[in-house]
Amino acid sequence: MAFLSDTLSRVKPSPTIAVTNKARELKAAGRDVIGLGAGEPDFDTPQNIKDAAKRAIDEGKTKYTAVDGIPELKQAICDKFQRENGLSYKPNQVTVGTGGKQILYNAFVATLNAGDEVIIPAPYWVSYPDMVLLAGGEPVPVVAGIETNFKLSPEALEAAITPKTKWFIFNSPSNPTGAGYTREELKALTDVLMRHPHVWVMSDDMYEHLVFDDFEFFTPAQVEPGLYDRTLTCNGVSKAYAMTGWRIGYAAGPVELIKAMGTIQSQSTSNPSSVSQYAALEGLTGPQQFLDDNKALFQRRRDLVVSMLNEAPGINCPTPEGAFYVYPDISGCIGKTSAKGTVITDDEVFASALLEEEDVAVVFGAAFGLSPNFRVSYATADEVLREACTRIQRFCSGLT
Ligand SMILES: Cc1ncc(COP(=O)(O)O)c(C=O)c1O
Repeated sequence: MAFLSDTLSRVKPSPTIAVTNKARELKAAGRDVIGLGAGEPDFDTPQNIKDAAKRAIDEGKTKYTAVDGIPELKQAICDKFQRENGLSYKPNQVTVGTGGKQILYNAFVATLNAGDEVIIPAPYWVSYPDMVLLAGGEPVPVVAGIETNFKLSPEALEAAITPKTKWFIFNSPSNPTGAGYTREELKALTDVLMRHPHVWVMSDDMYEHLVFDDFEFFTPAQVEPGLYDRTLTCNGVSKAYAMTGWRIGYAAGPVELIKAMGTIQSQSTSNPSSVSQYAALEGLTGPQQFLDDNKALFQRRRDLVVSMLNEAPGINCPTPEGAFYVYPDISGCIGKTSAKGTVITDDEVFASALLEEEDVAVVFGAAFGLSPNFRVSYATADEVLREACTRIQRFCSGLT
């Protein structure tokens, strides 16, 4: 009898974490590696949030809490949805977990049966398909390529829906492309979903606050109130509030689903860290000015990276609406040979040759379900980005 479960054989470890670890190892061995793999802001959690956490510790708020979140935080989340998204939820429609990741995972475990399909626009965040597999469902990737600016067309969504479709995952702005859907683009998708009442919508709004120029963020239940009763609106404090290590994510949706997700959580991790919940409460209710400051900072970096990458021969880098990623196409590099003699057969080879020859770590597109591309996370200092892009330009100029 095999010791490890059959389920485990269906999934793979996160490739983005693997790239980050590889870059860390090379750095530790003395190489001057620039890591553009990690998906987290490079600056510290705001001081008022850290202070709230310290206060929580001093006040003894260090015990078990209600399994799916303290009432004050649930109320703050309801207020956030009303204020920022025009969505009305009651606290019993809200659940809080250990990061956005646990929220999504709880929802899948609570709802998927063998054979249930989940539509995932590709390229996708690496964890979606594996979470679906772990929960016993079937991921159904649907290509949203560079020709549609990495946005799913209503026709492609319609064609992917079957009687077995349980969820459609929507992520705008997206990891890994940064693509953000306008109200009209989103409405075209929700119109399709209105014709298929058995399909539920999981909206992962993690990058809501990282949008640039005059782009306006919208979430499905806001654009189509008719979907409210079958939408789980997911969000978290990790990216917007520079709180990746605190592990707080949340979602709102129909009471029955929220209750079921709480049951899963009650038998796995129980409540998310009490101290982190008080920190998140301060994040959502305290001063919000730094959200705008961060936006300006990330927009400047996006512009720098997009323009420098587009100067590299063989690279085509679209300008994304949000998040802190770009997802350049490298069709023009495939089939060429690097300065040190590697034939670039695909994006995985491109990424490993770039790391080997120029000490720049990026994540290859195959990991996100669309090739040939790579993902750059530009959540790092301007001068580091400039140096990394100069190295990428040199690498691409050396291809023959
Ligand atoms: C699209 C998307 N959703 C969810 C998450 C998970 O966030 P958390 O760190 O809160 O678990 C991430 C993190 O990279 C993400 O990129």
